[in-house]
Amino acid sequence: MELISMILFSFCSIVILFLFPCLFKLFDSVRRTLPLPPGSLGWPYIGETFQLYSQNPNVFFASKVKRYGSIFKTHILGCPCVMISSPEAAKFVLVTRAHLFKPTFPASKEKMLGKQAIFFHQGDYHTKLRKLVLRAFMPEAIKNIVPDIESLAKDSIQSWEGRLITTFQEMKTYTFNVALLSIFGKDEVLYREDLKRCYYILEKGYNSMPINLPGTLFNKSMKARKELAQIVAKILSTRRQMKLDHTDLLASFMGDKEGLTDEQIADNIIGVIFAARDTTASVMTWILKYLGENPSVLQAVTEEQEAIIKSNSGDDEKAPSLSWADTKKMPITSRVIQETLRVASILSFTFREAAEDVEYQGYLIPKGWKVLPLFRNIHHSPEIFPDPEKFDPSRFEVAPKPNTFMPFGNGTHSCPGNELAKIEMLILLHHLTTKYRWSMVGSNSGIQYGPFALPQNGLPIRLTKKL
Ligand code: HEM
Repeated sequence: MELISMILFSFCSIVILFLFPCLFKLFDSVRRTLPLPPGSLGWPYIGETFQLYSQNPNVFFASKVKRYGSIFKTHILGCPCVMISSPEAAKFVLVTRAHLFKPTFPASKEKMLGKQAIFFHQGDYHTKLRKLVLRAFMPEAIKNIVPDIESLAKDSIQSWEGRLITTFQEMKTYTFNVALLSIFGKDEVLYREDLKRCYYILEKGYNSMPINLPGTLFNKSMKARKELAQIVAKILSTRRQMKLDHTDLLASFMGDKEGLTDEQIADNIIGVIFAARDTTASVMTWILKYLGENPSVLQAVTEEQEAIIKSNSGDDEKAPSLSWADTKKMPITSRVIQETLRVASILSFTFREAAEDVEYQGYLIPKGWKVLPLFRNIHHSPEIFPDPEKFDPSRFEVAPKPNTFMPFGNGTHSCPGNELAKIEMLILLHHLTTKYRWSMVGSNSGIQYGPFALPQNGLPIRLTKKL
C-alpha cells in the first residue's frame, strides 16, 4: 500500500514539476504561433506615424479598414498597435475581457493630471473611485443643480449677444463653470477665477515635451498644477471646519469611509475637469454648426423648446426656471445631441494596452501592444448607420443596436459624466433656440484636430436676440 502511494506521489510530482510547465509552454507556443492581425508596421520605430498624422486621421483608419478588415495592426508613435473597428471587438476589449486590457496614457499626461486620477487605474481603487464619481453624477444628484446650470447658461449666452464669438472658446467657459459647479457646488464661486487661471496654464502643457526646466511649458504647467492642488486643499480645509451638508463631487470624495487622501482628491478633481470641459464644449460647437446648416431641424428643436415655455407659463419673459422634468420632454433636441455625437465622434478612438497575450478571432494580440477601439469607424459604418455622413437625427427614433453607438465609451471605464453632459447641453439649447439666432462667419467646411475633432477655427458665429 505504502509503495503504491509512493509511486502515485512520484507520478504526481513529475506531472506538477515537469509536465505542467511543458504543457504550459506548448500552449504558450501555440499562442505564439497564432498570426498577428493583418496590416503593416511601416518603418522601424517611426512605423506609420507620419501617414496617420499628415492627414485627417479618419482617412487613415478608413483606408486601413477597407484594405485589411475590422482588425489590423500598425505602428504609431513608437508603439505597435492593433486597431479594431467592429462592435463585437470593441465589446471584447472594453467590456467582456476588459481585465485583459489596461488603460494607457503618455507619461506626460499622467504627470499633468496626477497619477491617482481615475483614468489610469483598474481593480479595487478604480471601482472605489468610480462609485464615488457616479454618486455625484447620477440623475438624483444632478437634479438639484438644474437651476444653477440654467443660470450659468443664461449668463453665458447673454455675454455673447451682438458679438462675433468663437463658439468653442465660449463653450469651454460654460462647460468649465458647469464642471466646477458639479465638483464644488455653488459656494466655491469664490475660487472660480483662480481655478480657471491655473487650469488654463496647466492645459497648455498637456501636449508639451515633458522637460521640467525653468521657462518650459511643461514646467509652467506643473507649477499651475501645484497651485490648483493648493486651492483644492484650501477648500477641503474650509469644508472640514464648517461641516455643512453638500451633495457635489467633493462631498462624495470627502464622505468616503475608507478615506481618500488630499492628493487623491486633487488628482481626481483635476481629472474630472479635464474629462468634462473640452469634450462637452466640442459637442456643443458641432451642434451649433449642424443646426445652422439644417434649418428644418433647427425649426423642430425651436418648436419643441417653445412648447415647454408655453406649457410652463404661456409667457416667455416670466417663464419659470426649467425643471428636471422639463429636460425629459425634449426628445427631438435629445436626438440632435445623439446624432451630433455620432457624426462628429469627437473621441474617434480610445487606447488600451494588452496586459497579457490575448487571442481574438484566431489572431494574437501580444502583451504590451496598444489596442485602439475605433469608435468613429463604428459610428460611420454604412451597415450600421445607413448614409452615415448625413446629419439625420430621426435615425435615433429607433434605438441603435447594442455596442454600435459608444460616444461615452463602454464597460468599466465608460463615461460617468454622460448625464451631466446631456443636461448642460439641453439647458443651453433651450435658451439659445428660443431667444436667439446665430449665423456662421467665414468658411466652415474644414475640420481641425487637436485632439478632438472641431469645426475650423472653433466656429466663429454672430449671435443676435430674436425680436
Ligand atoms: C459630451 C461630452 C463627453 C463625452 C463625449 C465623453 C466621453 C467619454 C468617453 C468615451 C470616456 C471613456 C474613455 C475610455 O474608455 O477610454 C469617458 C470617460 C470619462 N468621462 Fe466623459 N465624456 C463627456 C463628458 C464628461 C463629463 C461632463 C464628465 C464629468 C462631469 C466626464 C467624466 C469622465 C470621467 C471621470 C471618465 C473616466 C471614467 C473611468 O476611467 O472610469 N465626461 N468620457
